[in-house]
Amino acid sequence: MTDLFSPIQLGDYHLHNRIIMAPLTRGRADDDYTPNQLMAEYYAQRASAGLIISEATAISHQGYGWNHAPGIFTKKHQLGWLNVAEQVHKAGGHFFIQLWHMGRVVIPDFINGQLPVSSSPVKAEGVMRNQQGEKKPYVTPRELTQDEIQAVISDYERASIRAIDAGADGVELHAANGYLVDQFLRNGVNQRTDKYGGSIENRTRFLTEIVTALIETVGPGKVGVRLSPTNSYNDMTDSDPDALFTHVAQTLDQFNLAYIHIIEPAPDSGHFLAADHTCVTPLMRQAYSGNIIHNGGYTFDSAQTAIKNNQADAIAFGTLFIANPDLPKRFQEQYPLNKPDTHTFYSHGPEGYIDYPTYSPNA
Ligand SMILES: Cc1cc2nc3c(=O)[nH]c(=O)nc-3n(C[C@H](O)[C@H](O)[C@H](O)COP(=O)(O)O)c2cc1C
Repeated sequence: MTDLFSPIQLGDYHLHNRIIMAPLTRGRADDDYTPNQLMAEYYAQRASAGLIISEATAISHQGYGWNHAPGIFTKKHQLGWLNVAEQVHKAGGHFFIQLWHMGRVVIPDFINGQLPVSSSPVKAEGVMRNQQGEKKPYVTPRELTQDEIQAVISDYERASIRAIDAGADGVELHAANGYLVDQFLRNGVNQRTDKYGGSIENRTRFLTEIVTALIETVGPGKVGVRLSPTNSYNDMTDSDPDALFTHVAQTLDQFNLAYIHIIEPAPDSGHFLAADHTCVTPLMRQAYSGNIIHNGGYTFDSAQTAIKNNQADAIAFGTLFIANPDLPKRFQEQYPLNKPDTHTFYSHGPEGYIDYPTYSPNA
């Protein structure tokens, strides 16, 4: 019977288990957004995951807005990632880089005082910390022109080339959690009247154009897409998530991608990501014939159940991987789990980052 420890072919890669490390922003990159040795050590510690998906990584200056998050748009960033990928591979792991443009939730402090960009000039409620740690409110973004949309797609393309040149095994397009691609998909933000707005087909166009560019550049077996159909994070809403994300799943099914990665609360988890809508995942599972990674509040038991019941092909774990570098081994041996310390999720330095112990029976 297939379970979390069964190997799986995900695109070009044969993974030794179905326990995936979810992308996790940790804010440990250098001042110029370069990944450093501390990050390499953190990821290498977690190489027993079937696949590590990196923290969200900016594809351009325009899309950058999170203090000490990494980038992948300069040669220096690329060399930083090269070190990370080498150390993960040396430890036996697989590594994808998550490609990120934050769109309207970039505050001007990060982009020389300019306005952020989005599908439409619709402001998100909320605040973001600037480089000095001060909370600043989001501003009303500027609507991207069609020429600028093509330029952003080229930025994704260039970032994917750098990622592969840096030795990453693939890229995950971050189309979830209210960032730029999601700002085109969901009509709480997208109010365009051109071919990128209005109908569900039109709102999906930006996503499919990026995916087309990525698979032409790096190949479909090296591309995954992350989606969050019902998550309201970053002030997101949509009038009909069932119809939109069923269409998205059907459309992505034609690309032969490595996987799609869906964030929705695990059954009965009462997870914080739960939104005021029933989960769309079952509909997407029907609409998509390839591999689905699922994520959102899973425990070992609920993940095993989901795999055994064929609700997903692999399960991603976020906070559990923060606290347990040896998570697959702990699951396999039924060892107790370390508890994540939320205070150090986004702090600086090694504390709460590379100092979570692996399990030792004598500790
Ligand atoms: C500290 C932290 C950072 C996160 N950073 C990202 C990120 O960079 N990209 C992303 O797609 N999701 C990010 N997420 C969401 C997680 O990938 C995951 O969806 C969420 O933690 C739910 O999974 P879990 O219940 O297994 O933790 C982050 C979550 C946390 C707690």
